[in-house]
Amino acid sequence: MAKLKQKTMWFCTSCGADSPKWVGKCPSCGDWNTMVEERVAAAPAAPSAAGSMSGQRPKAVPRPVNMIEAVDEPRYRLPGEEFNRVLGGGLVRGSIVLLGGEPGIGKSTLVLQSLLAFRTRRVLYVSGEESATQIKLRADRIGRSSENVYIVCETVLENIYEHIAEVQPDIVVVDSIQTIATETLDSSAGSVSQVRECAASLLRFAKESGVPVLLIGHINKEGSIAGPKVLEHIVDAVLQFEGDHQYAYRLLRAIKNRFGSTSEIGIYEMCQRGLREVSNPSEMLMSRNTDDELSGVSTDVTLEGIRPFLIEVQALVSTAAYGTPQRSVTGYDPKRMNMLLAVLEKRVGFKLGAKDVFLNIAGGLRVNDPALDLAVIASILSSNVDMAIGRGWCMTGEVGLSGEIRPVTRIEQRITEADKLGLTDILIPSGNLKGFDTSNLSIRIHEVSRVADAFRELFG
Ligand code: TYD
Ligand code: MG
Repeated sequence: MAKLKQKTMWFCTSCGADSPKWVGKCPSCGDWNTMVEERVAAAPAAPSAAGSMSGQRPKAVPRPVNMIEAVDEPRYRLPGEEFNRVLGGGLVRGSIVLLGGEPGIGKSTLVLQSLLAFRTRRVLYVSGEESATQIKLRADRIGRSSENVYIVCETVLENIYEHIAEVQPDIVVVDSIQTIATETLDSSAGSVSQVRECAASLLRFAKESGVPVLLIGHINKEGSIAGPKVLEHIVDAVLQFEGDHQYAYRLLRAIKNRFGSTSEIGIYEMCQRGLREVSNPSEMLMSRNTDDELSGVSTDVTLEGIRPFLIEVQALVSTAAYGTPQRSVTGYDPKRMNMLLAVLEKRVGFKLGAKDVFLNIAGGLRVNDPALDLAVIASILSSNVDMAIGRGWCMTGEVGLSGEIRPVTRIEQRITEADKLGLTDILIPSGNLKGFDTSNLSIRIHEVSRVADAFRELFG
């Protein structure tokens, strides 16, 4: 007897792997409890290997690498410089870019605002989430309008292609990929198979037509149903828009980029009338308007991509009220903080094991620069001994397990930035300067090789 055709499959919401039956642990990515059941249409018969060799399809010809011409990817430069930089210089023609982020963080605002400023390109903005009136209200709030941006509310993939044929846009935006469904599958919009299928179809469209497609996707902290994670290997670039809802600052970060670097970030501030580009990130720190010196506050010179800027680290160390001390961290890796606390305990002799430690990076930012270690240690020490660090002081350095301070990248840029902003003293890892000429800088440079030296420099 012929076996009944399979009607449902199980999909992993974290990597998109499929399985004919439920499993507790995804065999592909190893995550637990991520499988969801979805209805699928019977798969079309796979073309046989012999069929694909019979020469009906255009074949690619292998060529020696030195015979291949290197051509610059043609790009559309977007009106916003921050957005351009994160993309690696603009939107590459025929590319597909995913912009992910938590709901309400400002993805739609960012895209709408950038594209409304376009004077020369036609844009089709497909929204499956908001009505055209809502988008118009948002555009009014941002204070921009354009005759080149076409808005359509649509959730069926096949209809989107009709709208594209009608408008003939230069750029297509789909907000969001989780609301779009193709008629060829009968699972609901937002399911793993729909998200994957729609993205793959839009990818083919982008490659064939040369029209760049910008997909917006939601992720939530628990890892949503069909989060954009399943798309990461399909698309050319994955950008993430992140920030703390309590703060106005937002970071645009490239997680993957086939056409540029992933170390660049764009910084924005959410204002009453749209997002404002923060071209001088140190203002986040410099806007501090207290003159008094506070203990537990230190200033770090950090670097994201090629841009140095200053950020403030705040720590509070207090005697634990309960048996188990609390450790709470915002904007920094909690494991790394525990490591630094262990270094302080073992190498410098500070007994922090019975203390509550709270750490916070100002502005709600999350920075991945290892050179932040020294400022984290300094703020913890400052709070522990209740002595303020001098107002003109800043620092940069990575801390190793034996309490040594290790060299950091691009020290010249960091020192020059601190000097430019009028700081008076900087702590840097010893031996890091390597012949950099500091004679025309007015900032005093203190080289330290161990955490204990840093403590002595800061608190005498
Ligand atoms: P939105 O772009 O809708 O987020 P997403 O598309 O990521 O879900 O942003 C919504 C938030 O931004 C909302 O809470 C209101 C706020 N906002 C402002 O503060 N100022 C503005 O000018 C706009 C347009 C939105
Ligand atoms: Mg939105």
